Amino acid sequence: MDLSKKISKAVKAGKLYNLEHFHNAWENEDLRRLMGNELLFPPSPRVIEAVTQFLPKMNYYPEDPATNKKLLQALADYAGVAGGADWVTLGNGSMEIIDMLPRTFLDPGDEVLLPCPDYSPYARRPLLYGGTIVDVVPDADFIYTLEDFTNKLTKMTKMIILSRPNAPAGNLLPREILISLLKLDVIVVVDEAYTEFSGESVVGLLEQHNNLIISRTFSKAIGLGGIRLGFVLSNPDMISYIERIRVPLNVSLLTQVAALAALEDADYIRNNVKKVIAARDMFSNQLAQISGVKVFPSQGNSVLINTHESGVSAEALQMHLLQAGYLTRNLSGGRGIPGDFFLRITIGTADDMHHVAALLRERISRG
Ligand SMILES: Cc1ncc(COP(=O)(O)O)c(C=O)c1O
Repeated sequence: MDLSKKISKAVKAGKLYNLEHFHNAWENEDLRRLMGNELLFPPSPRVIEAVTQFLPKMNYYPEDPATNKKLLQALADYAGVAGGADWVTLGNGSMEIIDMLPRTFLDPGDEVLLPCPDYSPYARRPLLYGGTIVDVVPDADFIYTLEDFTNKLTKMTKMIILSRPNAPAGNLLPREILISLLKLDVIVVVDEAYTEFSGESVVGLLEQHNNLIISRTFSKAIGLGGIRLGFVLSNPDMISYIERIRVPLNVSLLTQVAALAALEDADYIRNNVKKVIAARDMFSNQLAQISGVKVFPSQGNSVLINTHESGVSAEALQMHLLQAGYLTRNLSGGRGIPGDFFLRITIGTADDMHHVAALLRERISRG
């Protein structure tokens, strides 16, 4: 049988993800992981203890996320959502949320506005549900105006999806622009994966705007990328629609246990965030002093640089750092990231960042 004749048009339009960088990191555990915007500090001892206690109970199904009100309430409290548990639902990582939301809203032909660049899975999942991607293009510093979005609106525009802080640029779409977007007749999804590192969130806008959906993750500031947990914040009406497409029992027992324990150790999260912010700002300042390096000011846990003026490609820099034991991410040529000179470096410890800045300086000075 010619399988390709049976595959839906939408799936044919889909593309595979390249997640080699995680494979490389697991194959070479001695390398420092500055490639995936994870937290480089280990989980809180309270998380390890809680998970260990539940290991002998892995023969049982977990409870469904919808009934684990204790966890949903803890998440609402963590995020500052006054309405509580009914304003929250869970995804198997926010990558699953990025799949759930287009599935909830899109009919074939609907358009989704996406900043370009932004987190790459946004540009893939809507296609699977018949959606069309419409690029919203910023200036050369990755700064957006309201008109960049409104010029792209049509009768078919159903959703806007954006990350704030932006991945990979690290900047924040101004709050006033976001409020203007919320006044439009579209669903606005704000991915706050990096919110803890920016100290800025739009949670306070949820009550006034029933078209606002916020996505959060345990993979960044909370430091639990391995448990795969994301959560959605929105009004109960919206949550009830998203619940219709959520796969039952989509969040594992150990994930639920780890999440609750992590939230009970808020000081641990806060301290790690402080360390990352201090290392990020120190690293950005050091990079800004290297001639030929353009540093994009970051409110996240990574820094994007453009080394075009130095003439040294991102690939050459990535190789140089790899030889010194650091995995980083060459984003050049990705969606909205033209050329060969864009390298993104996740923030590790202060020592890592001093070392990486020195390595970059040395390689660039050689030309
Ligand atoms: C903006 C953004 N959203 C979501 C994710 C993925 O998060 P999760 O690990 O929860 O799937 C990332 C990961 O890099 C990201 O940059």
